Amino acid sequence: MLASGRGSNLRALIQAQERGELDTRIVGVFSDRPACAALALAREHGIPTLAAKPAKFASRQAFDDFMFREIEAVQPDLIVCAGYMRLISESVVRRFPGRMINIHPSLLPKYPGLDTHMRVLEAGDSEHGASVHCVIPALDAGAVIAQARVPVLPGDDADSLAQRVLEREHSVLVQCVKAIADGTIELGTNHIDWRGKPLHSPLRLNQRDQLEEST
Ligand code: GRF
Repeated sequence: MLASGRGSNLRALIQAQERGELDTRIVGVFSDRPACAALALAREHGIPTLAAKPAKFASRQAFDDFMFREIEAVQPDLIVCAGYMRLISESVVRRFPGRMINIHPSLLPKYPGLDTHMRVLEAGDSEHGASVHCVIPALDAGAVIAQARVPVLPGDDADSLAQRVLEREHSVLVQCVKAIADGTIELGTNHIDWRGKPLHSPLRLNQRDQLEEST
């Protein structure tokens, strides 16, 4: 996993593993922010960690080359970006086709980038959510695997909306990782297969926390 912040998505994955709902192992947590809570959480759970400060490297490419050499050393089947607040160099992203996903707090393709909750409120949208998508060099632009939707309620501010999204974000990430691990979802270079067939629109997380095809 790659993380820069508080690590609530990491916690959700760890807890799903502990409940026996997710048959995966987190082989390393990597960060560009040595003091972040995600790293502390990983250490508490005995997960190997590595942090490096981008400012100590000559370029973005040099930083990414270092970081991803370390990531390759733990031989991940899947790389999960969860609140990793850096763009990853194109040449590095291209080394992991179908093996890198990101969780983003919006219903992509709406609102790539930052401050999604505030932008949703400013636009007056009635619905918001979170997307799990494949990582490609362009920011938050890879094929969307699955989405969780939440209503925007009267009186919401960015914090209340963020909290509502976050709960569903954790579930959709856990369900996606689970489905990738058990082969229900297969990620290719340019396609996503769901139950052996090409997926044409993002899966949807239903109220029972299951992924289903959107109608
Ligand atoms: C999440 O909302 C994620 O979608 C966004 O950053 C936040 C990370 O949260 N890109 P956490 O560090 O997993 O708690």
